[in-house]
Amino acid sequence: MASECGDGILIDETAPGGGAGQRRRQAPEEHTICLDVDDLADVVAAVGLDRFVDDLIAAIGDAVRSFDVARVETMARAGFSYTTPAVGLVEWMPAMVVGRSVAIKTVAYHPDNPAAVGLPSVLATTSVYDTDTGRLVAICEATTLTALRTGAASAVMTDALVPPGPIALGVVGCGAQAVTQIHAISRIRPIERLIVTDADPAVAASLGVRLPSGVLADGATPEVVSTLAFGDRVADLDVLCTCTSVDVDKGPVVELRGAKPALHVNAVGSDFPGKVELPVDYLRSSVVIPDALDQCLVEGESQQLTADEVGPGMVEVLTDPAHRELVNRRTVFDSTGWAYEDLVAATRFVDEAERHGLGTRLALQYLPDDPYDPLEAIRRRDRRRNETGAG
Ligand SMILES: NC(=O)c1ccc[n+]([C@@H]2O[C@H](COP(=O)([O-])OP(=O)(O)OC[C@H]3O[C@@H](n4cnc5c(N)ncnc54)[C@H](O)[C@@H]3O)[C@@H](O)[C@H]2O)c1
Repeated sequence: MASECGDGILIDETAPGGGAGQRRRQAPEEHTICLDVDDLADVVAAVGLDRFVDDLIAAIGDAVRSFDVARVETMARAGFSYTTPAVGLVEWMPAMVVGRSVAIKTVAYHPDNPAAVGLPSVLATTSVYDTDTGRLVAICEATTLTALRTGAASAVMTDALVPPGPIALGVVGCGAQAVTQIHAISRIRPIERLIVTDADPAVAASLGVRLPSGVLADGATPEVVSTLAFGDRVADLDVLCTCTSVDVDKGPVVELRGAKPALHVNAVGSDFPGKVELPVDYLRSSVVIPDALDQCLVEGESQQLTADEVGPGMVEVLTDPAHRELVNRRTVFDSTGWAYEDLVAATRFVDEAERHGLGTRLALQYLPDDPYDPLEAIRRRDRRRNETGAG
């Protein structure tokens, strides 16, 4: 049995010696805060979805603008990919704020999930560690969070690269990411027209009901067109998001002949070697802006280019005023998903959840009285069983 003493530290009264004066290292803040999807929903409900996304757009924008390699370390993601029992991969995406924390998102991608088992294609969890002790501070749902942060990152770059005013937005691939791309972009530009397509017409047709209310200006509804007809509509677009689960070596997913001279593309779906969405000629006629250059050269649209054909990075575009002229150019945000964005999103989620008293605290890691005794918890459990006579 444990009782709380004045400073919030628990005293274990069943510890050897009666626990008197013996401090068990079970202060609640030493337990891992576990945040599930309901906690995320509660956090979003507390502030409202629009406000949550606005804050995330601001947080990712600020984090990128103040990015400093001496303060933040990230590395290209790595992982396992396989073709059996399903085509898929599990990857890990680490980022560290020096002197403070490490966040590692594990993300799985199984494009057949929605049709085969009714699960999202992308499934993710983020773990946050402190760098004082290496303790697991938090573990949180990151499937919804990934969609929100990916939308927010596109909004940040669209805001930087598209002149103010209403836009016509095109979307190729109407699955999970499309929802948060459209919503986040609606927070920085009024969407006057939305033209969408998907290889699966049923997914395109259902997009409208999955969008939050109010994302389209003046009650407009998405115009759903076939993938073939979409090419004829490209000339109308100010902004395009490609967020398909196109197979390796099956791209590009869209022809961009007739695109406006300042079309901005958020290329979201290219995130694996051989998996690309845009024609290489179009990339060469545009300024391609990688989120994380090393990663993009291996698995983004930039894999189709040589390093010297790739334009300035996300950080440079947001920090160097010389790049403001890019609003007049064709631009492609090569969004492969930067681990730093996940760290920022997870940190916001954990901070907000703590502010609202949400989450479950669990001793997911061992918190002993004696750090040299790895068997302490086992002995304690046996002692408790003997005392209660349980078998
Ligand atoms: N850049 C990032 O940070 C980031 C983050 C999450 C997901 N992604 C990637 O975004 C893509 C979409 O993810 P999702 O969660 O929306 O997947 P999803 O399975 O929910 O939706 C993908 C949609 O693309 C459609 N599609 C596949 N091939 C197509 C084609 N050739 N033309 C038109 N439509 C096509 C599918 O029918 C499906 O409806 C995936 O490739 C995923 O890896 C990137």
